[in-house]
Amino acid sequence: MATTDATLCEERIRALWRRGCTGGDAAEEMRRPAGVIHVTAVGRTDDGHREVIAIGSGSPPSRTDFFLLNLCRARAEAIVTTGRILRSEPDVHHGPQGSEDEPALLAAFRRERLGLDRPPRSVVLTSGRDVDLAHPMFHGARPALVVTGTAGAAALRARSTEADVEVVELPRPDLRAVLAWLAREGCATVCVEAGPATSLDLYRPPVAVDELVLSTWEERVLPRDLRAGRFPSEAEIERLLPRAGPVAERSEESGRWSFRRRRRT
Ligand SMILES: NC(=O)c1ccc[n+]([C@@H]2O[C@H](COP(=O)([O-])OP(=O)(O)OC[C@H]3O[C@@H](n4cnc5c(N)ncnc54)[C@H](OP(=O)(O)O)[C@@H]3O)[C@@H](O)[C@H]2O)c1
Repeated sequence: MATTDATLCEERIRALWRRGCTGGDAAEEMRRPAGVIHVTAVGRTDDGHREVIAIGSGSPPSRTDFFLLNLCRARAEAIVTTGRILRSEPDVHHGPQGSEDEPALLAAFRRERLGLDRPPRSVVLTSGRDVDLAHPMFHGARPALVVTGTAGAAALRARSTEADVEVVELPRPDLRAVLAWLAREGCATVCVEAGPATSLDLYRPPVAVDELVLSTWEERVLPRDLRAGRFPSEAEIERLLPRAGPVAERSEESGRWSFRRRRRT
């Protein structure tokens, strides 16, 4: 049988982890609707805590972490980010990305294994006060929509001549409300790319994360200026997301990394 791009993508997944969180094959497991996936990269502090890495020119790059981020995007029907991330990463977009053949392999996996024909929907949670409507996120193959409150929606609608941006107005527009709205819209797999100020609330009861895809920079203590917020302890995450896949370790240009998936059920 000819090796297709979707098969090659599954082989890349298995090269990292043979086994999934529920005991079966890792690539097979990723065909199922996943609920809410939180994908994030952390580093360690000298007092034994973990901190979310602030993304920027000084942050340690990882090819594997970027592949996993794009794999989560490829599995998702919607990706949630925030207005603050758009401001701190002026070039960020959710279109096909990765090294060499990765964009093609991920697109084939999405299309052929998950049956998803359209790009994921990008959703920006914001107060609406300081949104750059020229940001690439609003001008891709499937432009992002904005979820905001009443005042934010009015402000953005008043700027409708700048860009044709879809605005969803929610009475209490926090991350949980965005996830509830996306569930009502029929999104079975949602990738959360929000920073710690917003995303860590999902680990408080009732826990709203179904899967965590965690990359950890193990090389050395994370410099203070790269710390975006404290991530829950390993014991806490183990308690909340008890089904753990294996740990994969890689040595990359920026040093040693480890990668692990965990699921709630
Ligand atoms: N390592 C990783 O995997 C990773 C992932 C993501 C982010 N990061 C890093 O995390 C940092 C940014 O994260 P952060 O924790 O500071 O911010 P954040 O959680 O990403 O975003 C906070 C912003 O979300 C919007 N928001 C949150 N709650 C809202 C509500 N109830 N109503 C309306 N809008 C709301 C607001 O946007 P507006 O200000 O537009 O109103 C708010 O300023 C950056 O350094 C980034 O590089 C790292």
